[in-house]
Amino acid sequence: MAESFVLHGAVIYSRDLKNIAAFPSAWVVCDGGISKGVFETLPDEYRDLPQTDFGNKLIMPGLTDLHVHAPQYPCRGNGMDLELLDWLDQYIFPEESKYKDLSYAKKAYSLFAEEMRKGPTTRACVFSTIHPEATSVLMDLLEETGLRTYVGKVNMDRNSPDYYTETTEESAAATRSWLEAVKAAGYSRTRPIITPRFTPTCTRELMCALGELAKEYDIPVQSHLSENLSEISWVKELESDVSCYADSYEKAGIFGEHTPCVMAHCVWSDDEELSLIKKRGVFIAHSPESNINLSSGAAPVRRFLDMGLHVGLASDVSAGSTTSMFSAMRNAVYASKLRWRLMDQSLRPLTFQEVFYLATKGGGAFFGNVGSLEAGYEFDAVVLDDTPFLTSREDETVLHRTERAVYLADQRDVAAKYVAGRRVF
Ligand code: GUN
Ligand code: FE
Repeated sequence: MAESFVLHGAVIYSRDLKNIAAFPSAWVVCDGGISKGVFETLPDEYRDLPQTDFGNKLIMPGLTDLHVHAPQYPCRGNGMDLELLDWLDQYIFPEESKYKDLSYAKKAYSLFAEEMRKGPTTRACVFSTIHPEATSVLMDLLEETGLRTYVGKVNMDRNSPDYYTETTEESAAATRSWLEAVKAAGYSRTRPIITPRFTPTCTRELMCALGELAKEYDIPVQSHLSENLSEISWVKELESDVSCYADSYEKAGIFGEHTPCVMAHCVWSDDEELSLIKKRGVFIAHSPESNINLSSGAAPVRRFLDMGLHVGLASDVSAGSTTSMFSAMRNAVYASKLRWRLMDQSLRPLTFQEVFYLATKGGGAFFGNVGSLEAGYEFDAVVLDDTPFLTSREDETVLHRTERAVYLADQRDVAAKYVAGRRVF
């Protein structure tokens, strides 16, 4: 149950892309799951609420992972000498096919769910496999963690190995019966999302059927877009009538026209694709470590931001090696610097303020009023114990401390976590 309470500590949150608000000592008020704001002096009206004093620890908004593959958790760090298509064939499809076995699914997804529970992530968009029953196992486990997530049964009806594929009819029917099972399960924190894997593994017929389901059930869509050069040339061969890769989703009505849509990567999106992304309000899940590991490239995030696109950060486990959103934040800075130095000096690198925004408010917006401690936002907060990283400096600001913690911290440094006003630990 969402509660009403007050937390005290060193508080930091993004006002907008350029501006961070930071207070060495402040109170954050939660009223029935919604933030009432941050106060340097606690207003009288909140003095009677239960208080938790976190002393000098850092209190920040929860982080959103806009794109993560739960069944790939056992493959982290493996096959990183390959590019996307070979990596899928040699590592990912064999692993994902194992989730047909529910006892394997339970074992593997329990480890994933526990990792997500302990870390700084409060919201996530999660891919499962093509198996509807195993997807429900994952949803049951994520519901228990207290996180708020979208979870999708993956669809793939072409160019997939014999041991891991569906026919068009099977895929659409299994998605519908899974959506009915989700309704019956009555989750309060775990929601379904339509999940065509990507254009190479989904026929137009299937995409259109999924578009109908998204509309009928009024649920969002997630997939991959313009990630890796070999994938992009393959899409050109497969889809002769599209004007850009995104048009293969647009033509099926699943590119944000009817329900919200989040696409991972967009490393190589051209002007036309970017204007369609803008027109449809599609979110981009930027996954910098994945883009490096699979030699996909470095996405022009500065361009996305200059165009006013919706952008969030993502781990993309297991093309990304870790669920840590601290890692995604620093990798977003690194990737933007290499892109700037080596590819395009007109696109300045990202700043710490900007990646902090992307990991909080940027991705959080996919979930509604999420990603800030300002009044009116759902109360997602992470308490970070940065004691191991404190220094001799007397002029150390909360911003300095947070920036350093993001470079040095991991899951173990998260001391407490709240999602929509409920304490997870
Ligand atoms: N494109 C299609 N499937 C995948 C996947 O599992 N991971 C990544 N990074 N890209 C994909
Ligand atoms: Fe992915």
